[in-house]
Amino acid sequence: MEGGYHPVADVISQRRSVRRFGPEPVARSLVRELVALACRAPAPHKSRPWRFAYVATDGAKGRLAEAMAGAWLADLEAVETSVHDIQRLLGRSKEQIMGAPALLVACLELTEAKEQADEGRRSAERDMFVQSLGAALQNILLAAVERGLVGYLKGAPLFCAPAVREALELPDGWEPAFLVLLGHPEEGFEPPPRAEVEVGDVMVER
Ligand SMILES: Cc1cc2nc3c(=O)[nH]c(=O)nc-3n(C[C@H](O)[C@H](O)[C@H](O)COP(=O)(O)O)c2cc1C
Repeated sequence: MEGGYHPVADVISQRRSVRRFGPEPVARSLVRELVALACRAPAPHKSRPWRFAYVATDGAKGRLAEAMAGAWLADLEAVETSVHDIQRLLGRSKEQIMGAPALLVACLELTEAKEQADEGRRSAERDMFVQSLGAALQNILLAAVERGLVGYLKGAPLFCAPAVREALELPDGWEPAFLVLLGHPEEGFEPPPRAEVEVGDVMVER
C-alpha cells in the first residue's frame, strides 16, 4: 500500500474469520449499530433487501441450534456420514451457535425484485440481490473489526432455510441465508498470517 492514511484498507487487511471468542458480552447497542452499517450497502434498484434477526436469548439460540441440527442430520444421513462424524459435526455446530456472544441471522427479502421475462433473467435478477447481501455482510464484518470485535459467517442457513424461519418465527418472505457470529477476541488473540494475494493472477492488461 502506497503511503498515506488508509483506515479502510487497514481494517480490510486485519479482518479474518475468527471462530473463538472471549467471554465478554457484546452490547445490544453495538449490534444495532453494526446492522445499521450493513444497511448502507449498495443494492439493486435502490432497494433495501436485507433483513437481520438478532438472536439474543439462550432460548432462541437453543431453538435455532436444534432446528438447524435436525435439518443437517437428515442431510448427513442421506450421504451416509458415520455416526461418530455426525455427532461431532452436530455438536460443534450447536456449540458455535450457543457460544456466540452476538448472533444474527442475515436474510434476503425479495419483494423489490423486478419481474423478468424468462428463467435466465429471473435468476440474474435474484443474483443481484444475493450479491448485495454479501456487501451488507462485509460491512458488518469490517465495522466489527473497527470496533475491536472478531467474528465469521456461516452459510448453513442457506441449506435449511425453512427450519431457521420456523424456529425463529421469521416473517413470510424473509429468506435466511447466513449466521453472523461476533464477539470479543480471546485474551492474547493474534490473527493468523495471511498469504500474499497474487494480484498478477487477476489483473489483465491489454
Ligand atoms: C459465503 C461464505 C460462507 C462461509 N461459510 C462458512 C461456514 O459455514 N463456516 C465457517 O466456519 N466459515 C465460513 N465462512 C468463512 C470462510 O471460511 C473464510 O472467509 C475463509 O476461510 C477465508 O478466511 P478469512 O475470512 O480469515 O480471510 C464463509 C465465508 C463466506 C464468504
